[in-house]
Amino acid sequence: MSSEVIGREVKRRRTFAIISHPDAGKSTMTEALALHARMISEAGAVHGKGGRRSTVSDWMEMEKARGISVSSTALQFKYSASGDDDDFPHVINLVDTPGHSDFSEDTYRVLTAVDAAVMLIDAAKGLEPQTLKLFQVCRHRGIPVITVVNKWDRPGQTPLELIDEISDRIGLIPTPLYVPVGIAGDYRGLLDRRTGEYIKFTRTAGGAKIAPEDVLDAETARATEGAAWIAAAEESELLGELGQDHDQEMFLAGQTSPMIFTSAMLNFGVRQLLEALVEFAPPPRGRVAIDESTREVTDPFSAVVFKVQAGMDSSHRDRLAYMRIVSGEFERGMVVNHAQTGKPFATKYAQAVFGRDRATVDTAFPGDVVGLVNAMALAPGDTLYLDPKVQFPPIPSFAPEHFSSLRVTTADKYKQFRKAIDQLDAEGVVQVLRNDLRGDASPVLAAVGPMQFEVVTARMKAEFNVDTIIEPLGYSLARRTDEASAPELTKQRGVEVFTRSDGAILALFSDKWRLQYIEKEHSDLVLEPLVAAAD
Ligand code: G4P
Repeated sequence: MSSEVIGREVKRRRTFAIISHPDAGKSTMTEALALHARMISEAGAVHGKGGRRSTVSDWMEMEKARGISVSSTALQFKYSASGDDDDFPHVINLVDTPGHSDFSEDTYRVLTAVDAAVMLIDAAKGLEPQTLKLFQVCRHRGIPVITVVNKWDRPGQTPLELIDEISDRIGLIPTPLYVPVGIAGDYRGLLDRRTGEYIKFTRTAGGAKIAPEDVLDAETARATEGAAWIAAAEESELLGELGQDHDQEMFLAGQTSPMIFTSAMLNFGVRQLLEALVEFAPPPRGRVAIDESTREVTDPFSAVVFKVQAGMDSSHRDRLAYMRIVSGEFERGMVVNHAQTGKPFATKYAQAVFGRDRATVDTAFPGDVVGLVNAMALAPGDTLYLDPKVQFPPIPSFAPEHFSSLRVTTADKYKQFRKAIDQLDAEGVVQVLRNDLRGDASPVLAAVGPMQFEVVTARMKAEFNVDTIIEPLGYSLARRTDEASAPELTKQRGVEVFTRSDGAILALFSDKWRLQYIEKEHSDLVLEPLVAAAD
């Protein structure tokens, strides 16, 4: 395929993730986006509001009928933005971040696969802990962030309070593209700050359909909405005076964030979010390889594995690896190279996956996410390519905060236990730490979130038939050290030294005061912080 065609495909793609705290409305928004992209005709299909839950197979039927591709890891849909040629709409990839309230490395890894993030916050609650953590990852990776204030149909803070909170707490300057007309709880429409027009929304029953929009000029808006319009106009002017207008360069540099007010439930402001993604979020770009050369999007095929999943379904007892395409065109059936092993990898079973069902993917372009079935050899961070060879830097492993020992309780299952540990380690489910004192029978597992431990015990049982128990250890932070420092550290109270399976030597500390004390008393010891969030 010519690089011109690939270039055109890349230009129309946007790949993003929604970062939010549980309950802010991520699922409702995902569905509202699908509704606006006319992927579904009625909201409620996925989220199951009001008993309208339909099954995954409805999605699969829809997929066949419309030629879109759906997966639990990436939802792909086409969207004709204003000014688009309907025959060549934008292609939006929404990569899912794991939804549970707990944190895991998976969540971080997903953010290595996107080009932009939508930070979804609840109008009443403002910034919440998980949003903050995820935002820090985006900042670290230089991912531009669009801010969405959701649930504007419910009482909440004022726009200026929310703007202040965001700029004061995380130093990100919101630049509202629209100002809501009507306070939180009385959401009537939006003042478009660029055109000065009023976009008036009309509710549909239960928010199931796309909310109709009327565009009115400022004068008519003032006559219809009175004080609510005047307040919005004043707010917009004030923001202008403060310099809080969208600036593409500052947005791409992670300094400012276009801000949108929505009600995912009523489908208000959702189109505006899609337009902002198309207009401002960057299309896929080339990626820097280990040798510091850049693999451009139009170069031959390459991709990075960012997530590996196993045991999803008892009828598909295999392992799925999700790759984000970096360059070139992917065609199912292609035999590509696996940079880490040097071995060929046949992509006969490339699939998009949603829940339990799967659909085959035939072609894909940079920015797209494809699931590879039976990918036993692949691990997060691995590179796949067609010649010329390329290898991308590994996904950094993140600073663990939870440490537990894992013990097998079925006496004769030790061999399976070791095999299982090695596999879960290779998949990046947890980090595995060992030392002579504890021996191989009860390795220490390190994780970003404790949910990762539950995944280990559950998979040990389901896939290897091994019963294990997790025993939390009294450590709360880790530092990277070296062989020379290890003996002295081992002597310290509240400290234990381990070797991680990648060879790194880690010292675990009971708490930060112990660490600070040791750093002060033994300034010659090597104690480097691990990457807190991302590289
Ligand atoms: P999450 O994926 O981020 O965890 O959030 P989810 O979409 O599941 O939404 C959490 C709750 O917030 C749901 O209510 C949902 O209906 C509600 N919600 C989402 N967006 C909006 C919005 O724009 N306005 C209002 N008012 N509510 C919103 P629930 O009571 O948990 O479930 P349900 O009974 O409504 O289904």
